[in-house]
Amino acid sequence: MSKPLEGIKIIDFTHVQAGPACTQLLAWFGADVIKVERPGAGDVTRSQLRDIPGVDALYFTMLNSNKRSLTLDTKKPEGKEILTKLIKESDVLVENFGPGALDRMGFTWEHIKEMNPGMIVASVKGFSDGHHYEDLKVYENVAQCAGGAASTTGFDDGPPTVSAAALGDSNTGMHLAIGILTALRARDTTGKGQKVAVSMQDSVLNLCRVKLRDQQRLDRVGYLEEYPQYPHGSFSDVVPRGGNAGGGGQPGWVLKCKGWETDPNAYIYFTIQGHAWAPICKAIGKEEWIDDPAYMTAGARQDKIFAIFGTIEEWLKDKTKFEAVDILRKFDIPCSPVLTMKEIANDPSLRASGTIAEVQHKERGTYLTVGSPIKFSDMKVEITGSPLLGEHTDEVLEGLGYSSQQIAALHEQNVV
Ligand code: COA
Repeated sequence: MSKPLEGIKIIDFTHVQAGPACTQLLAWFGADVIKVERPGAGDVTRSQLRDIPGVDALYFTMLNSNKRSLTLDTKKPEGKEILTKLIKESDVLVENFGPGALDRMGFTWEHIKEMNPGMIVASVKGFSDGHHYEDLKVYENVAQCAGGAASTTGFDDGPPTVSAAALGDSNTGMHLAIGILTALRARDTTGKGQKVAVSMQDSVLNLCRVKLRDQQRLDRVGYLEEYPQYPHGSFSDVVPRGGNAGGGGQPGWVLKCKGWETDPNAYIYFTIQGHAWAPICKAIGKEEWIDDPAYMTAGARQDKIFAIFGTIEEWLKDKTKFEAVDILRKFDIPCSPVLTMKEIANDPSLRASGTIAEVQHKERGTYLTVGSPIKFSDMKVEITGSPLLGEHTDEVLEGLGYSSQQIAALHEQNVV
């Protein structure tokens, strides 16, 4: 089956997570992604947090599937020459180096545009161009702090807290992928490439827009009724940490289930959807609350929401998180067990959908990865193993017209 992005050639000059997550997605959908790595070392994630000595770490294998690997020292003149040839015949160059690194290598946007006017140059940086922090190097948690996520995550009596979800890294990569596809679409009509830039701070903030909503509400009315600080605690003039409160108009919280004393994940997330009040009362055996004016509206419930959650926890006491959800789903109540990574890894539905995929790797055998979360009716996304360092170097150089003697010489001089 042909893939929609077949024929799109991408120079993948990315490393760590933000850039690789973007190019991996494009590779899944059919683009020819050539990962350019420094000879001898490669992407730093190949050797970070290794679980098998001498074998590419899972950090690398889970972010670089479906790609080819070319080793190239782009600081040597011969390396620059090879990169120049690649640029002339590629569609996209993606990079997430520290600020200015590509320019210092001699590959400014102006120069690339001159060599290939159809080229799309896509970059991830910590902060956007012109930002007062534009010179900073940035990793995941730095971005979560800069994008407003950390100050609003965690509990009122604790410090700013980062999320386990890669809001700064993979999320920025997904934004960049959307930007690249948009620029490709624009090129279909104009014939011209363009520079696409996404900052990690902006991408985190884009996912925190409801917190900017809350700042403006707080400025106007002085409180936020869906936060646990309301009505008994106090508010300052900044959006507080909301604990496990639901972020929209539906109050929610993480509730204890049977076994919580010994199992730190014996919990469900429970949402009190306004129009589901009657089914909730029926499900938990409190039918007298259905028409009670002290409970029947969201406004009436607000000041006793934690007492209501306490009553639901009483009901949950003799039910496991799975049993509880099996009951609540019959009443159409939005809820989920709090799943561990072990439960997710073995989840039959996630395996069947390909969201958890078992992949073959030349040196490590099989490993699990997260497959495409995007499902298509006309395309099955197949995940292949990540490439070994420089696995496709000779093949790519041959494609650029280098002879076997020239390739041997380039190896000899550590250019590739
Ligand atoms: N051949 C020769 N040199 C190469 C090369 C290659 N194939 N690949 C990279 N390099 C060089 C770069 O040119 C740069 O050289 P210079 O600084 O002398 O000009 C050097 O390697 C280091 O690159 P840099 O990206 O700055 O690496 P770092 O390890 O110091 O910083 C980050 C890592 C992630 C902090 C930084 O890249 C960054 O801030 N990136 C943007 C934001 C980002 O994506 N962060 C999230 C990562 S998940």
